[in-house]
Amino acid sequence: MIPGSSVRELVARLVVIPLIGTIAVDALDVDNLLSGLGPAPAGDPRFTDFQPPGPGDVRSPCPGLNTLANHGFIHHDGRNMTIPHLIDGLAAGLNIGAELTTVLGAVGLLASPNPFGGAFDLDQLDQHNFPIEHDTSLSRQDAYFGDDHSFYGPNWQQVLDHYEGASETSITAASNAKLARVKDSLARNPQVVYSFREFIISYGETAFYLQTMSDPVSGVANLDFVKSLFEEEKLPYELGWRPSSVPITLASLGAMVVELYGVNNEAIPEGGIVVADSYQDALELIVGGVEVLANLTEGISSAFGL
Ligand code: HEM
Ligand SMILES: [Mg+2]
Repeated sequence: MIPGSSVRELVARLVVIPLIGTIAVDALDVDNLLSGLGPAPAGDPRFTDFQPPGPGDVRSPCPGLNTLANHGFIHHDGRNMTIPHLIDGLAAGLNIGAELTTVLGAVGLLASPNPFGGAFDLDQLDQHNFPIEHDTSLSRQDAYFGDDHSFYGPNWQQVLDHYEGASETSITAASNAKLARVKDSLARNPQVVYSFREFIISYGETAFYLQTMSDPVSGVANLDFVKSLFEEEKLPYELGWRPSSVPITLASLGAMVVELYGVNNEAIPEGGIVVADSYQDALELIVGGVEVLANLTEGISSAFGL
């Protein structure tokens, strides 16, 4: 990779998406989509109504989506995840901003057997190495070792070890824990894949647990909240957690990704460069560009100016 190449060039070279004709974008009632969007009010029964998956329900390698399904913020059966449904559910349960959900939801759609059908099931996100599921996960095994879907305690323990018994997370410990998981996979997995795509996505995931369990800026979350999210896939409402009062956005995630890899000085694979503002570009290009994003989301992304 040529030093100084932009994220756009880099990802464009890494991602090959079939060209698909433009889908006509109907006029969207964005006001309706966004009306009342935000965290559900304190006392909403879903915060305390925790139901693990039953027979026939499906789940994913994502602790965030599984948790939201276990609380009914998104369909409890784990099926038929459309972009509007995700926008609503991720905002109600975790105060995720609509633009961020739209881009991530579009990446999720790429895992479906019919990406332009407008919906995916959580178990379809298991697909290894594209579009999202990757090696070096914090709480799952690499596919090379077997099940890359289910919680795997020994890997998660490697993460917890970096908190050294502290009661709260920190950017420094989270950053070092994330890098340790990468090093572990590089050392043990002869088929490990860790390129720019995995780098971008996996740093975003560390930022995601920090921000949803605290706020979009500090990186300081109660570690018991984080354990509840990963180990039980349960919102730690009874432990005192409340959704962030400030939305978690593409911008907040991008800023924290830059902060996280800045602390541990991990070299970006392929010599890429990521600054906070280019995080959105990177995710859009993982999807295949703004036009594919618009088609996948049936125009919702365009309505948001993405
Ligand atoms: C539409 C939105 C989302 C999609 C499509 C999605 C999809 C995924 C997928 C496929 C993975 C597995 C990657 C891997 O580790 O191999 C993952 C991991 C992860 N996701 Fe999500 N996710 C979404 C939203 C969220 C939200 C709202 C949270 C909030 C807590 C979250 C937190 C995480 C975390 C922390 C991981 C890393 C798990 C690990 O490394 O063990 N995600 N996500
Ligand atoms: Mg994985």
